[in-house]
Amino acid sequence: MSTNPVRNGGRLCYGGDWNPEQWPPEVWREDVALMRRAGVNLVTVGVFAWSRLEPAPGRHTADWLDRVLDLLHDNGIRAALATPTAAPPPWFTLAHPDALPVTTDGVRLHHGSRDTYCAAAPAYRAAARDIAGFLADRYAHHPALALWHVHNEYGTTCHCPHADAAFRRWLTDRYGDLDALNAAWVTSFWSQHYSDWAQLATPRATQYLGNPGQLLDFRRFWSDTLLAAYAEQRDLLRAANPAVPVTTNYVLGDWVPVDHARWASEVDLVAIDHYPSAVDGGAEEQTALAADLARGWARHGAYRRGAGDDSWLLMESAPNQLHTAGRMHTKEPGRLARHSLAHVARGSRGVMFFQWRAPAGGAERFHSAVVPHAGPDSRVFREAAQLGDLLGRITEATAGRVAAAVALGWDAASAWALRHPGMPSRAPDHHAEVAAAHRALWRAGVACDLVPPGDPLDGYRLLVLPALYLAADATVDWVRRHVDAGGHLLVTWLSGVADEHARIRLGGYPGAFRDLLGIRVEEFHPLADGDRVALTDGGYGELWTETVHLAGSEPVVGYRGGVLDGRPAITRHRHGDALAWYLSTRPDDDTYQRLLAGAARDAGVGPVCPAAPPGVEAVRRHDGDSSWLFLLNHTDRPQRIPATGTELVTGERVDEAVTVPAGGVAVLRERPR
Ligand code: GAL
Repeated sequence: MSTNPVRNGGRLCYGGDWNPEQWPPEVWREDVALMRRAGVNLVTVGVFAWSRLEPAPGRHTADWLDRVLDLLHDNGIRAALATPTAAPPPWFTLAHPDALPVTTDGVRLHHGSRDTYCAAAPAYRAAARDIAGFLADRYAHHPALALWHVHNEYGTTCHCPHADAAFRRWLTDRYGDLDALNAAWVTSFWSQHYSDWAQLATPRATQYLGNPGQLLDFRRFWSDTLLAAYAEQRDLLRAANPAVPVTTNYVLGDWVPVDHARWASEVDLVAIDHYPSAVDGGAEEQTALAADLARGWARHGAYRRGAGDDSWLLMESAPNQLHTAGRMHTKEPGRLARHSLAHVARGSRGVMFFQWRAPAGGAERFHSAVVPHAGPDSRVFREAAQLGDLLGRITEATAGRVAAAVALGWDAASAWALRHPGMPSRAPDHHAEVAAAHRALWRAGVACDLVPPGDPLDGYRLLVLPALYLAADATVDWVRRHVDAGGHLLVTWLSGVADEHARIRLGGYPGAFRDLLGIRVEEFHPLADGDRVALTDGGYGELWTETVHLAGSEPVVGYRGGVLDGRPAITRHRHGDALAWYLSTRPDDDTYQRLLAGAARDAGVGPVCPAAPPGVEAVRRHDGDSSWLFLLNHTDRPQRIPATGTELVTGERVDEAVTVPAGGVAVLRERPR
């Protein structure tokens, strides 16, 4: 493994996806001049350029890429060189029709877009290794090369015969014998007993609900299949020059069949793409969550490898428009810098955009770009150039690390299991529940780390588990050890209901954590979309309610009205000095914020910057006695915040308070206290 993850000469990485293959060389020269103006020092190249690198099987044409890399090097810009395996050329499809992906309905997809391959097909894997090997041979020692960027956003699935065969092999390894598989999948239900491995296939379209265990294992299997496809490229790139780090860009979303935590120890640097789907404050909340997730995966990877730090890289983000359902929303002035710094504050080694120059055609011709269709005489280019300058001023702040005393559980398998359509309602969604808890902490100004089950919890005063549906015995022990060591706990509805195979833990919900929480849940009462139920503290619950019986815990908030009138909604169980909270409903945002701020306070944890007013996001990074405070003002008024030190963006000394401009940012080197 490389020990030199993109250090970039101590500078923050700044740049984005550059596609010179779409433009004549005179535009390359203009681009590079503009990059220098904007302070760009790293660009991703070649990401979808397979047909330009190998226009016919085995015939390579890379002279253009030689010139591009030389041009970058001559201008002091480094390359994240991508393998182009997310976009096989049309000749590949025609030569290997068996390597085309098949949907759950049995439809074989065709070229004409991107990602048209089955990651389990031997012909695809061989072609991917070949083109990656070609790039490794040619460029592994090119002086512009900073980082290998394998593929793009692993995440597509397939249900072809190659996938079926690979699934059977994976299941054989996992279960050893069919009795174990039948027990795990509860195949006694609906006559699904398997008596021969040959009867097993990837989950296809079925007449009615599919088997939850099979669907869950397919997701796990496919994550491992994609990981194997990544790892074989990584290994040959690494072999060509072990000093160059290798990564791939994670795509986030509940549809993604990739366990990013599990992948984290396989990449030299965790890299994420992030495109918020909300427009208003939601975009800032999503940005903070994505960045905290990335840091959590990076920390998990370092823990699994037994080495490394928890920094990571924002590999793609939108310089301008936010993509909301059905339309684009143009970012207001200042938002580009605020979103970018929210990532840097939380551990990103830089800011990368998709994309550098807006294409003249192609499917994403209207995607935002640093150089838009209007050209560099544009607001977005000017803001990007200002950001390049700003990143140069704050580099020292990245020496510090975010310190959080609240851990928020995150588990890909729980997210997958909750997507099964046979759940009591469509509401359960691990991503949404983690996001709701994170939002509540974010609004309360309390820092948190996203933690996969099993990771060390030393130093965390409060563990929050939102909809952690699956709990293996090891996960139950992990939570118990935290509480036994005096840690506080807050568990929400639908956590610990099932084991790792998605089989229900019997005897009352949540089977895994009943004793710890001092409750027994008898019945679920999911709410209709838009319905709410009043709570005795003046707030209300949404999505879900339950019949909770007390078994040692005390009621904190009750239901008011409806079938659960007078029954406990939120409970608290005391373990020595520690408290174990249970939320049987999703509280409204204000109630949730109050609750989590209170639970954190009980655990001895306060906000990062108690003086920061609502709408000002504060992130602090520490390095020994030094600390840096990032302040992002999401409001439309200047905000004055008591502080002392030096403000790095303006270079001004701060003796009493710093004023953060409306929609602006400040980064303070704090005076040691
Ligand atoms: C990313 C992808 C890019 C581009 C972008 C558009 O997920 O990696 O290639 O498609 O989305 O937002």
